[in-house]
Amino acid sequence: MRDEPYQRPPQLAAILDDAALADFTMSCEERTGSLLATLAASKPDGRFLELGTGVGAGAAWLTSGMTPGSRLTTVEAHDEVQAIARRHLGDDPRIDFVRADADTWLTQQQDTEPFDFAYVDCRPGKYLRLPDLLAILKPGALYVVDDMLPQATWPEDHQPRVDGFLERLPEVPNWRATPMNWASGLVIAARI
Ligand SMILES: C[S@@+](CC[C@H](N)C(=O)[O-])C[C@H]1O[C@@H](n2cnc3c(N)ncnc32)[C@H](O)[C@@H]1O
Repeated sequence: MRDEPYQRPPQLAAILDDAALADFTMSCEERTGSLLATLAASKPDGRFLELGTGVGAGAAWLTSGMTPGSRLTTVEAHDEVQAIARRHLGDDPRIDFVRADADTWLTQQQDTEPFDFAYVDCRPGKYLRLPDLLAILKPGALYVVDDMLPQATWPEDHQPRVDGFLERLPEVPNWRATPMNWASGLVIAARI
């Protein structure tokens, strides 16, 4: 069985070229991206959230699966990184690029329309403030994180953070989570 994606977003190759030029090594891997696209296609006219845009690889995958009536809000703390994503994906009217610290952004969201899907790719919403992230998801919404397996880009003190997150999964109220030893190591959860 080959588990390599057979469809790629049209912008992906150019995004990854620019990522290499910028020495950005944290884009999601292709199998994860393909899964994101598949899950995105399961939420027609959905409201999508990505925390940690990076250079836009994840956003390219997500939008490649999203229906025309769906919307993606993608939040990134670093302007120069998100600028690459804007350059390649900025013509897509379904995407709202937000330049903000996800921690601050989460504080501002508690009374806004909830999301159908969250791909959380930075510390807030995953290792920090998970309850606040879950509070802005609709019942039935999907929650995805990757990089649960050791990555070359991790700082030395990161493993205990990941271990703690995985150990606490069964205690999180109102969700049903599945850890997956696949691709970079995923957790997929549904908000109940
Ligand atoms: C793993 S990369 C994102 C990759 C991207 N989601 C993808 O799939 O290609 C994590 C990104 O989160 C950003 N980041 C880190 N901490 C953040 C924070 N507190 N708020 C917003 N963005 C943050 C980093 O600058 C980095 O670009």
